[in-house]
Amino acid sequence: MLKKTVLAMGCVVLLSSTAIASEMHGKALYEQNCASCHGADGKVSQMGMKLKPFPARDLTALAEVVDRDELRRIIAYGIRGTAMVPKRYDLDAAGIEDVIDYVFTFKRKINMANGKKRFEQVCATCHGFDGRAKTGMGAKNLVYSNLNLKDTVHTMRYGRIGTKMTSKRHQLTNPDIEDVAYYVHELRFKADTKKGAALFSSTCKSCHSSPSAIKLGGNRARTMKLTDMSDYLLDLRIRHGRHVDRAGKKVAKLSEDETQNIIAYLRKETK
Ligand code: HEC
Ligand code: HEC
Ligand code: HEC
Repeated sequence: MLKKTVLAMGCVVLLSSTAIASEMHGKALYEQNCASCHGADGKVSQMGMKLKPFPARDLTALAEVVDRDELRRIIAYGIRGTAMVPKRYDLDAAGIEDVIDYVFTFKRKINMANGKKRFEQVCATCHGFDGRAKTGMGAKNLVYSNLNLKDTVHTMRYGRIGTKMTSKRHQLTNPDIEDVAYYVHELRFKADTKKGAALFSSTCKSCHSSPSAIKLGGNRARTMKLTDMSDYLLDLRIRHGRHVDRAGKKVAKLSEDETQNIIAYLRKETK
């Protein structure tokens, strides 16, 4: 028993000392290879700011919102046409992991006021000041978006090829991107299942006795359940097309928010 405990303690000490060793290693590697451009604190050095065609980027916001894989790729392969060139430093695969661990220790506080300001400057022309995208630019409504924080950030960083949603990496710093992503998620509509239940009673119950009594039409009925449909698809099935002819004006007149409340209620009841 004693032997086992001593052995286990030995393992713990070994484990945590290797963790500390690799963090120190990561710090040393970072200071040697990256700090000249990205700054010792990740906030970009004087020299990094002057680089052409693009300055070095602030690395303090990455931990929460960018996947390790993405950083691994950038550090291993660099970024074409910029000063981010792997040949300038000499890291093996393990060194890259240690540097990423160290970069992930750079922390910052979310600044919602900055997120709002930058959103209004850079996004509102297409997505609207309220994020609802009623601007005629074909942008997506961010209030009902299902994207998680990382995917929202990825969309901002790289854009959507072939659409007006272009990369914002050169308009926004990483801290800006992080703040905007949090702000955009703040704008999201928080559906209310109680309101949904009341709306279901007043607009749907005359034909569908309960959410689980709703039958899907056509071939879909064989392959799909209500729970398989995304919010977007459900909204489409409820407020548009054939269903409106069947269900009548009251349903056609539901607002987006009312429909989201109903959908939240349907989801709660058909889980
Ligand atoms: C000679 C200057 C220089 C050195 C040294 C350098 N970088 Fe960079 N790095 C840059 C520049 C410039 C960019 C921005 C390129 C761009 O705008 O696309 C960049 C971009 C990056 C990015 C992408 C940031 C983003 O928001 O997409 C990461 C991550 C990164 N560097 C990490 C590192 C790490 C880790 C090291 C050290 C191993 C390092 N860099 C060394 C200049 C440098
Ligand atoms: C020039 C117009 C334009 C600007 C400016 C713009 N967007 Fe977009 N955005 C679009 C379009 C168009 C789409 C839809 C792309 C598609 O069809 O996939 C989109 C899609 C998105 C999506 C994906 C939503 C989803 O649910 O799939 C996010 C997130 C997003 N934009 C965030 C932003 C943020 C944040 C900003 C500001 C930093 C911004 N956009 C600026 C036009 C724009
Ligand atoms: C006047 C009758 C009527 C009302 C009111 C009505 N529906 Fe329907 N609904 C139908 C009929 C008919 C169908 C076709 C399937 C069936 O026979 O059950 C249908 C189908 C559906 C479907 C499946 C759509 C598809 O594409 O398969 C959904 C989801 C649905 N209703 C939701 C609702 C919701 C939510 C409300 C209230 C906002 C509502 N319905 C109100 C008559 C109605």
